[in-house]
Formats: sequence, C-alpha cells, structure tokens
Amino acid sequence: MRSKIVAGNWKMNKTLDEAKALTSEIMGMVADEVKGDVKVVLCTPFPYLIPVKNILGTSSRIAVGAQNASEHEAGAYTGEVSSVMLKSMDVPYVILGHSERRQYFGEDGKLLAKKVDVALKHGLIPIFCCGEPLEVRERNEHEALVCRQIEEALFHLNEESLKKIVIAYEPVWAIGTGKTASSQQAQDMHAVIRKHLAGKYGQAVADSISILYGGSVNAANAKELFACADVDGGLVGGASLKSREFVEIIKSI
Ligand code: 13P
Repeated sequence: MRSKIVAGNWKMNKTLDEAKALTSEIMGMVADEVKGDVKVVLCTPFPYLIPVKNILGTSSRIAVGAQNASEHEAGAYTGEVSSVMLKSMDVPYVILGHSERRQYFGEDGKLLAKKVDVALKHGLIPIFCCGEPLEVRERNEHEALVCRQIEEALFHLNEESLKKIVIAYEPVWAIGTGKTASSQQAQDMHAVIRKHLAGKYGQAVADSISILYGGSVNAANAKELFACADVDGGLVGGASLKSREFVEIIKSI
C-alpha cells in the first residue's frame, strides 16, 4: 500500500517566531485530532528546518522537508544548500522541481535529474513536482508535457530508486490562484502519470508510488480531491500557513 501524505509548502513566508507558533499549533491539533496513518510533512524555508524540528521532537508524527536542494554536493556555490547538509540535519524530505523553481530559477529536466540523483544518493526522499501551464492545457498538450517532465527527471532511475520518489502533480494555473483542478481533472492526470510509470517500471512499482495533488487545495475541496483513486494526498501552499485550515485538510484524507 502506498503512503498517504499531506505536505505543506510554506514557500518564502513567515518570520521565525511565526514559524514556531504555526508548528506548535499544527503539532497540537494533529496529536489530538488526526487518526490513521497519514504522513504529514512541513516544508519550511531552510533557516527554519532545525527550529521546527526541535519543536516537533522525535516523537512527533510530523516530518520536515526542504523546498529545494543543489545539484552539487559541496563547494563554491554561494547561497546554495546541499542534500548532504540536509541529510546531516536529519531532514527526510526535499521538494524538487517546483514550478516556481522552474519558472523563476530556470530549472529544467536535465538539472532536475541531477538534483534527484544527489538527493537520493544521500538518502533524502524527493517530492518531485510536475505540472503544466494554462496555455499547454488549452492546447490539450498537458498529458504529453507532464509525461515528458517525468521522463526527463526520473526515467534514468532504476526501479529501486524510483520507488523512493514521491510525485506531486501541480498544474501551474491552479497554484496560488484559488482555481483548483476539478477532482476529475486531478484523477485523470494522476492516472496518466501512474500509467506512464507502469509502462516503464511495471504496474506493481507504479502502484507503490504516492502521487500528491497541489494547487489551491483548501479545507473545502480537499475531501473530494483526496477521494480520487489515484490521488494519495496533497502538496499544500497557502492553506498550509493557517494551522486550523491545514489540519482540516490533513483530516480530509
Ligand atoms: P497553493 O496551495 O497556494 O495554490 O500552492 C500550491 C503549491 O505550489 C504547493 O507546492
């Protein structure tokens, strides 16, 4: 059985004090209210990973994740953070290939293949993002583009490595716009992604991969999205910055 995962992507938000308060609130509510075996991940800005981890402690069922990592392991790359560093801090997850990284920082499939390799080499779990801009969907080329994004960054992996990846489908037109994909649109694309994985790695491997949906997930739409057969959870932006809303999303799975 593949894991159910709800990850919050805080992006570049919150002061340190706000980040600590948000973490404490989420931790308390999750302990009191969340039943079942959903995995919860808080993808914080780099400087908050350790403070947030310290609040969560070792007993919490909530893990932390980074929002990016370098394709290099170490060296003269001012301002960058490596997978080696994240591993040394016991950070288990890292988002790679978010559409904002693709759009504003020029990340492409070739670079992301390298980032994925380095993250896996150091034992991190990549949450690999894919998704199409609006004009690509309007041309009805969204399935082809998402399959190509996955091929470029992941299809060089052997079966054992691929099984460690979490995929997040985030249509660019749904990110931060309040315009979520319908549950049918999400299910259709998740099924296409799983079928594409099955074509290369076999059905059993494809069935073991968690595929998250991201893009304007909120407490009102999460239940319907998470009820889809191939939607295994969510990658949540804006709504993960509000403790009550985020916990309601977690409880929707
Ligand atoms: P929103 O939930 O704010 O649309 O952001 C989604 C996202 O980009 C998560 O990575």
